[in-house]
Amino acid sequence: MSVASDPHSFPPCADACAGSRLGRVVHWLPVVSSTNRVLAAMAEDGALHGTVVIADHQTAGAGKGERAWFSKPGGGLLLSVLLRPDASFGELPQLTLLAAVALHDALARLDLPNAGLKWPNDLLIGGRKVCGILAETGTDQDGEVFVVLGIGLNVGLRVDDFPHELAAIATSLTEAAGRPVDVRAVMEGFLEALEFWLGRWCREGFAPVRAAWCEASCTLGRRVGFGGEGEIGEAVGLADDGGLLVRDRNGDIHGFHSGDMRFLDGACESTQTRSVS
Ligand code: BTN
Repeated sequence: MSVASDPHSFPPCADACAGSRLGRVVHWLPVVSSTNRVLAAMAEDGALHGTVVIADHQTAGAGKGERAWFSKPGGGLLLSVLLRPDASFGELPQLTLLAAVALHDALARLDLPNAGLKWPNDLLIGGRKVCGILAETGTDQDGEVFVVLGIGLNVGLRVDDFPHELAAIATSLTEAAGRPVDVRAVMEGFLEALEFWLGRWCREGFAPVRAAWCEASCTLGRRVGFGGEGEIGEAVGLADDGGLLVRDRNGDIHGFHSGDMRFLDGACESTQTRSVS
């Protein structure tokens, strides 16, 4: 695989990240198939924790559940970051929630419209999806488990840019803010916040991430269903492992760990702005 790995060809933002473990190596590429796929290949070959791949465009951007991720050249933040966490396999799904909290904080710091977190991997503004997160695990040549954390954030896209099937359910930061948004500022803010939350997760476990996620959630308190099923019940919390806890009409609590969760009571509005530390 051919990637731009000459540090001198990196954009200035790469230097801005140089002090942190995340983003010490940044590969900013014009077009790739999928940043997750490119970074997974690097990870298999031993790339360092914190290596970042960013693209201006993807020709085969991957979404959750084998779906494609829509992008237009220069329209968003298409970023993957390699994590080599010291964690059990069962804890890895927590990283999707942690990334959502980090991005939520980064947007708040940049005074951008407040996003609500939809379990497990979406950020919504005004009920429309602005960001999806795709965490994929793999094993490198030494048998070490890694996680490629992929972020697809709509930044500069306009309503007209979205294909018909997305136009009513997706938005971008520029649309929501009513002003242009600097993708590099968002990228740097996200990596900084991700570093912060990874540090807390390593030191303190999932509890602070869970509390922050619940505070920023637009999921809890909502009537939800999974897949093609009708109503399951009300989303009431996160389990220790990051699963969604849903209370059914009999008052029994069920944990869900995967599947397409749908709101059954209208749009998901953004939460109150949470103060960020
Ligand atoms: C979702 O389905 O909501 C998750 C979408 C994740 C898309 C991002 S874009 C950058 C990274 N590379 C990919 O191929 N996918 C993720």
